[in-house]
Amino acid sequence: MADKSFQTPTSEQLCQWDIDHFWHAFTPMASYTPLVIDRAQGVWLYDTEGNRYLDGVSSMWCNLLGHRQSAVDAAIRDQLDRVAHSTSLGMANTPAVVLAKRLADLAPGDLQHVFYASDGSSAVEVALKMAYQYWQQCEKPQPQKTKYIALGQAYHGDTIGSASVGGIERFHALFKPLLFDVLRLPIPDPRRLPPETSIEEATQHFLAELEQVLIADHQQVAALVVEPLIQAAAGMVFHAPGYLRGVRELTDRYDVLLIADEIVTGFGRTGQMFACQHEQVTPDFLCLGKSITGGYLPLAATIASPNVYSAFLGPATNSFLHGHTYGGNPLAAVAALATLDLLQDQDVIENFNLRTEQLAAILKSLQNHPHVAETRQMGLIAAVELTSVAGEHQSYPIEVQIAAQVCKEMLHRGVWIRPLRDVLVIMPPLSITADELQLLGDVLLESIETVTQSEASVGSPT
Ligand SMILES: Cc1ncc(COP(=O)(O)O)c(C=O)c1O
Repeated sequence: MADKSFQTPTSEQLCQWDIDHFWHAFTPMASYTPLVIDRAQGVWLYDTEGNRYLDGVSSMWCNLLGHRQSAVDAAIRDQLDRVAHSTSLGMANTPAVVLAKRLADLAPGDLQHVFYASDGSSAVEVALKMAYQYWQQCEKPQPQKTKYIALGQAYHGDTIGSASVGGIERFHALFKPLLFDVLRLPIPDPRRLPPETSIEEATQHFLAELEQVLIADHQQVAALVVEPLIQAAAGMVFHAPGYLRGVRELTDRYDVLLIADEIVTGFGRTGQMFACQHEQVTPDFLCLGKSITGGYLPLAATIASPNVYSAFLGPATNSFLHGHTYGGNPLAAVAALATLDLLQDQDVIENFNLRTEQLAAILKSLQNHPHVAETRQMGLIAAVELTSVAGEHQSYPIEVQIAAQVCKEMLHRGVWIRPLRDVLVIMPPLSITADELQLLGDVLLESIETVTQSEASVGSPT
């Protein structure tokens, strides 16, 4: 007999079991307060007590068009009447094939061979291993090409390979002995350079840094991996414009493959389907995840060029030696197909444009706040960076956890977002309404106000 308490647990039981048994990602479990989501609708998450929270970061940057989209729900239900899962090893399933064709049509340039995995880290891992294997067996093999170039403060996931190319001290330093060495370039963030540096000079400076590394080491380098335009986990740091274009030119010139990690920037959030398209760049690998299923089900894809793919043809020993059990899962694939349909809907595009303008106005008003150092925005991805000294750009001491405090304050007021060091990230579903976005903006301002005032009084000598 099934234990009834598992079928209809009370809210108290759920919270207790959550604390006792559920080990959460990137969460200090010693101070964790249970928050158990029971259902959702549109941009709203509802907990087991019936409280609702505006999902201001799209459930960790993946819920693209709001929760409970009827077309996506229906597509998954219909697929359940056919098959929930079949493998991608040596066979295909209908929705995964259609999705591969559709992604190939949407992807920049000639990218057209889709390899599925289940999460973003794996999509990057796939690209790294494909690049390595490519050089072992391409037409003119260069087996000494075993190194990677990656950027400072990069984040590409938490598996050993994807973490090796990551460069965020507080996430990656502990694991250093386990990770492989990479050639690391400083983050191409123009704010690192003297204030009088023009944008063009900044771009040239960062590209010159890259070219030096390429001149010295290109014969050992299999690939360069980059988050195009925006380094998300670094705190939504924007690259110097033109940098990506220059990276493509240099990697082509020095015979190095280019891996574009669009796990955050893909699927319209920046105003183009893929961020690479802002600079007319076609990488050798495009890594996709998160929003690909509208935030419904785990799916990721690495799309490779015909040149890369051709090196894996020929004898069976040339096959790509890698695979994930649930890669190309048909339920996830239909969710992705239904999401793509919605993403191309005129109303969605119009709402995106209007909300992007509205968000710009909200950010502009926040810039007047003395403890807001800077705001950044591209489409519906935005960051608000806090400063401890009014009018300057000065981090709060790490132990103050300033942005985490603001997020906590916001949660009390019914809006859920996550901090990145001193940065507050705003990345709502593209379907957010004008009123909901205004609410998010109001709560954000009130919460910054409350927290920075109380910190100022804690810090003051009187
Ligand atoms: C740019 C980027 N790449 C890869 C990943 C890893 O994706 P996942 O968490 O699905 O493994 C993330 C996650 O935030 C990311 O921001």
